[in-house]
Amino acid sequence: MIKVKKRKFLLLPGDGIGPEVIEEVKKIIYWFNTNKSLDFEIEEGLAGGASYDKHGTPITDEVFYKALESEAVILGAVGGPKWDNLEFSKKPERALLKLRKELKLFANLRPAICFKQLVDASTLKPEIVSGLDIMIVRELTGGIYFGEPRGIKPIDNGERKGINTHTYTSNEIIRVARVAFDLAKKRSNKVTSCEKSNVMEAGQLWKEEVQSLHEKEYKEVELNHMLADNCAMQLLRNPKQFDVIVTDNLFGDMLSDQASMLTGSLGLLPSASLGAKNKDGKMRSMYEPIHGSAPDIAGKGIANPIASILSFAMALKYSLNLDKEAKALENAVQEVLNEGLRTKDIVSKGTKEVSTTKMGDAIISKLK
Ligand code: IPM
Ligand code: MG
Repeated sequence: MIKVKKRKFLLLPGDGIGPEVIEEVKKIIYWFNTNKSLDFEIEEGLAGGASYDKHGTPITDEVFYKALESEAVILGAVGGPKWDNLEFSKKPERALLKLRKELKLFANLRPAICFKQLVDASTLKPEIVSGLDIMIVRELTGGIYFGEPRGIKPIDNGERKGINTHTYTSNEIIRVARVAFDLAKKRSNKVTSCEKSNVMEAGQLWKEEVQSLHEKEYKEVELNHMLADNCAMQLLRNPKQFDVIVTDNLFGDMLSDQASMLTGSLGLLPSASLGAKNKDGKMRSMYEPIHGSAPDIAGKGIANPIASILSFAMALKYSLNLDKEAKALENAVQEVLNEGLRTKDIVSKGTKEVSTTKMGDAIISKLK
């Protein structure tokens, strides 16, 4: 069998349940190496609070350079109450923000899929969420998260003023909108673009640029503009009206949390953060479960590894074009859910609770 060139993944397990769920991803990677001769190489590094505890910084230059050199970064989760009182630049979340910004991962793909086996886990009525399949495309390197000026400064009357700046350039809007339109073409061909063009100039520009890109290059895709607050409401009222939602960094942060809860299965949802393709079609990328570090359940062996495993499936698909392998992994997850195996977060009457490692093993046993 011809062996393909070694492709390097950087695993950053991070904090809380991060290391437990990434351990299961590692097992899957070994499975592919052994059974499919894919020859993936794994490197590991510290990020977040774990890095701060050892090195006094949420991410070292060494780890950052490894991220630059890898095919894809697979991150567990960062953060926890232990590090809440650190100054801003030392907080675990800075590792994540630095990777996003400096690897230029401007497009964040957050699917919200309601797994049929888990329809009853949603807080919404089954008929509202069953079959739900939304893709939120969140702009990830601009907007108020990174805009200047920012800071907290004293003002005249002895008070202080907190400042953040929300800015978008045409190009920042156009490149992420293009990702959304391209994805829609492979799905149900519908994009909803969300902003607050009724109160913000940056929102008005957002709407105009998305509209003009649509007219120039994507006429065949259905485009709707929606105010972000209305989108929050519509996501609860009738979420199945959406296919792809494209929105800015802050609205995307909030709307994607809301959308994920519709599915009732936070522990199952992956995400991808993608940069621009170079002329060889390669891009920088980072994949992570959308759940956080869940420090309250860390170390108990009960965390759900599926979101991380599906994040790895996204890496196979988007970074390596290994669609067949990605599909095989997704199917393995489906089969295990069909058999009624559940980690504690999604267990219900008539299903069987298994540990993090048992869930990983069960998924591997379904791979062919
Ligand atoms: C997310 C998280 C992050 C964000 C935090 C951890 C910095 O909420 O990925 O959605 O706000 O982007
Ligand atoms: Mg968030």
